[in-house]
Amino acid sequence: MHELLVAQSHIQQLTTQLLKEQTEAQMIQTEKMVSLGKMVASVAHEIKNPAACISCNFEFLDSYYENLMAVLVAYEAEVTEESTKIKQLKEEEDFDFILEDLPKIIKSIGTASDRLTETLGSLHNFSHLDEAKPTLSDINECIDSTLIILHNRIKYSIEVIKNYGDLPLINCYSGQLSQVFMNIISNAIEALGDKMAEQKKASRAWQPQIKITTEILETADTEFVAIRIADNGPGIPLEIQEQIFDMFFTTKPVGKGTGLGLAISNQIVTKKHGGQLLLSSHPDTGTEFQIILPIFG
Ligand SMILES: Nc1ncnc2c1ncn2[C@@H]1O[C@H](COP(=O)(O)OP(=O)(O)OP(=O)(O)O)[C@@H](O)[C@H]1O
Ligand SMILES: [Mg+2]
Repeated sequence: MHELLVAQSHIQQLTTQLLKEQTEAQMIQTEKMVSLGKMVASVAHEIKNPAACISCNFEFLDSYYENLMAVLVAYEAEVTEESTKIKQLKEEEDFDFILEDLPKIIKSIGTASDRLTETLGSLHNFSHLDEAKPTLSDINECIDSTLIILHNRIKYSIEVIKNYGDLPLINCYSGQLSQVFMNIISNAIEALGDKMAEQKKASRAWQPQIKITTEILETADTEFVAIRIADNGPGIPLEIQEQIFDMFFTTKPVGKGTGLGLAISNQIVTKKHGGQLLLSSHPDTGTEFQIILPIFG
C-alpha cells in the first residue's frame, strides 16, 4: 500500500512538472510570436514608403518609356540617312540590344514591384499575432496572405489547388489563424518534400499537390466555416496520429522541427475560437487537416 502511495505521489510530481514545462514552453512560444509580430510590423512599416515610391514611380517610368519609344520610332521613320557619328554611337552602345532588352527589364521591375506591394500587404496579417480582440476577417484572404508569405517555399513544383467557397466575414483572431494556416501548410510542404525526394530516388514522376477548400457547414442551429488543407504526401502513420497534437512531438531531425506547430495550432483553433482541428490521413492518399470554426453573430 505504502509503495503504491509513493508511486502515486511520484506520478503526480511528474505530471505537475510536465504541465509546468508545457506552460513555460507555451509562454515562450507566445512571447516569441508576439515579438516576431512586432518586428514584422516595424520592418513592414520601414519598407512601406520606399515600396510605395517604387510602385508609384514605376507607372511614370512605364508610360514615359512608351512615349519616348513613340518619338524614337517617328524620328527614325523621318530621318532616313544617319550620320556616321550616330551610327558609331549606336554600335558602341549596343543600341539594338538595348531596344530589345529594355521592355523586358521594365516588365520584370513592374512584376517585382507588384509582388513587393502584395507581400507587404500580407505581412500586415502576421503583425497582429498579439491582437487582444477578435475582428471581422475574410478567411479566404487570410489563407491567400499565408500562401504569399510561403511563396518561396511552395515554388513551382507544388501545385496549389484552391477551392474557395463564398464565406461571410468571421469574427476571429486573424493573425493567429494565419499562424495556424502557416503551420499546417508548412507541414504539408515539408511532407511533400520528403515524398518528392523518395520518388526522385526511384525515378518516378509525381506531382506534389496541396488542395485548400473552404466552405460553410450548416447544422440545425449553427453555421460553421470549414477549411480543409490536404496534401498528397506520405501520410501520417496510424500509430502516431494520436500524438501529433502533443507539445514537442516531432518526427523531424533536431533543428528542423520543434514539435510545437500543431500543438499551438490546436490551441488557437479550440481554445481561442471554440472550433475543432481534425485530422484524416492515409499513406495512399496523403493528409488532410480540417479546421472548423463556429460563426458567431
Ligand atoms: N502534412 C503532414 N504530412 C505528414 N506528416 C505530418 C504532416 N503534418 C504533420 N505531420 C507530422 O506531425 C508531426 C508534428 O507536427 P508539428 O507541426 O506539430 O511539429 P513539427 O512540424 O515536427 O515541428 P514545428 O512545426 O514545431 O517546426 C510532424 O513532425 C510530422 O511527423
Ligand atoms: Mg510543423
